[in-house]
Amino acid sequence: MEILRHLLLVIHILGFAALLGGLLVQAREPQKSVNALMRDGAGTAFLAGLLLVGVIQADDGDLDNTKIAVKGVIGLVILVLVMANLRRERIATGLWTLLLLLTVANICVAVFWASAHV
Ligand code: HEM
Repeated sequence: MEILRHLLLVIHILGFAALLGGLLVQAREPQKSVNALMRDGAGTAFLAGLLLVGVIQADDGDLDNTKIAVKGVIGLVILVLVMANLRRERIATGLWTLLLLLTVANICVAVFWASAHV
């Protein structure tokens, strides 16, 4: 289970790294849009996160449910916003900024919200 958990954590990190990369590559572009990196990254981070919860629970690991709920809601909002704007030629800079802040917020929640396991 430990190997599976670590493998999922690597996929989880690659997922939100792709999301962050897809956002930051457009930082200096006047026109912003939802690119493939953001789409695949948001989906991968969310799915791997859910699977991580399942694996840790199956391994009787203690999860901080409030922390996971916060991360889950932020991850879902990111995923919905990304998928809802996938076909638009361009997105508002305000939406781009919101997606960037939510992604950084989830990294901060994961790292600074001290808990036994996650
Ligand atoms: C953009 C969205 C997300 C970002 C940026 C993010 C960020 C992170 C980071 C930085 C870690 C490593 C923290 C550490 O090990 O100290 C982590 C671990 C974890 N995340 Fe996320 N996360 C996101 C979404 C989610 C979602 C939606 C869930 C589940 C509902 C989730 C569940 C977890 C779990 C369970 C771990 C711990 C894994 C372990 O210790 O093995 N994450 N996340």
